Amino acid sequence: MKRILLFAKNGQLGWELQQTLSSLGQVIPLDYPEVDFAKPLSLRDLVREHKPDVIVNPAAYTAVDKAESEVDLAMAINRDAPLVLAEEAERLQIPYLYYSTDYVFGSSDGKPYVETDTPNPLNVYGQSKLEGDLAVMSTNAPVIIQRVAWVYSMRQGGFVTKVLQWARQQEVLRVVDDQISNPTSSRTLAEVSSQILAKIFEHPIEWLQERRGVYHSVGSGSCSRYEWAEEILANDLRREEQTVKTLERAKSDEFPTPATRPLISRLNCDKLYNTFGLRHACWKTSLKFMMENSGR
Ligand SMILES: NC(=O)c1ccc[n+]([C@@H]2O[C@H](COP(=O)([O-])OP(=O)(O)OC[C@H]3O[C@@H](n4cnc5c(N)ncnc54)[C@H](OP(=O)(O)O)[C@@H]3O)[C@@H](O)[C@H]2O)c1
Repeated sequence: MKRILLFAKNGQLGWELQQTLSSLGQVIPLDYPEVDFAKPLSLRDLVREHKPDVIVNPAAYTAVDKAESEVDLAMAINRDAPLVLAEEAERLQIPYLYYSTDYVFGSSDGKPYVETDTPNPLNVYGQSKLEGDLAVMSTNAPVIIQRVAWVYSMRQGGFVTKVLQWARQQEVLRVVDDQISNPTSSRTLAEVSSQILAKIFEHPIEWLQERRGVYHSVGSGSCSRYEWAEEILANDLRREEQTVKTLERAKSDEFPTPATRPLISRLNCDKLYNTFGLRHACWKTSLKFMMENSGR
């Protein structure tokens, strides 16, 4: 039985990974406060105590606006802690799965970004994640970094549940149509991650070493937040509870936030397909599946 050390078991992605990884080995799920990524060196002892065969790390400081005023904390969690785990993976020569973000990029001209495009983060969160990618890649850990975007689940606080909540409180819903990316189901991302790991397990570690690096890994197809909201409302299982009568298009500059966000940050996932033969389902299919199976 492979021992799979999984961090952030209660996060959107971590929760789904707990389910999908269990078919591949013994999952050792951990989370805050048992583990504190703000104290990166404490992770070293933890890895040595649990002696894993794989490390899976979806933990992150994800409060994009708050990060503008909590720079040191964001850097500790998103740069320093992933580095410590990479050093341990290198020492043990074990696979390390880690996650990055489309926010390492600025706004594109519309063409989906590929892995070799030059990053240009517009906010502290994006900068901290980019520094995390660079720190992890500066080791010789057998690592796969999946760069993901617009991750959602049916748990409170994310875009999908916020739209459903607003649709029950307001008659007019205004959603920006100038932010464009790839909605990514946390369930689909967890399945893709598990399939990557299954392929890794079929080969010696040298096979992974030859393929280590960054892979874009998002829902197939892209849309604006307005189109995403439209699809969420259409798939609402309790549509009779909606008070909303009109969904209106808005622009990002109508809703100023502490952190600047890239407007267009579509990701091209061909490298993932060409290397592992894997593609995410169409974002609309994954959304429908997620909403139909949530019972809400
Ligand atoms: N959500 C998105 O739209 C999005 C977009 C692009 C990339 N990503 C990346 O995808 C990955 C998964 O994100 P997600 O959507 O699952 O985010 P999430 O739901 O916010 O999960 C992050 C997890 O990290 C944990 N965490 C935060 N601070 C910690 C600390 N000091 N010590 C230990 N654990 C800590 C959180 O615990 P608490 O909840 O207790 O704080 C939470 O369980 C991350 O690498 C993220 O950067 C996400």
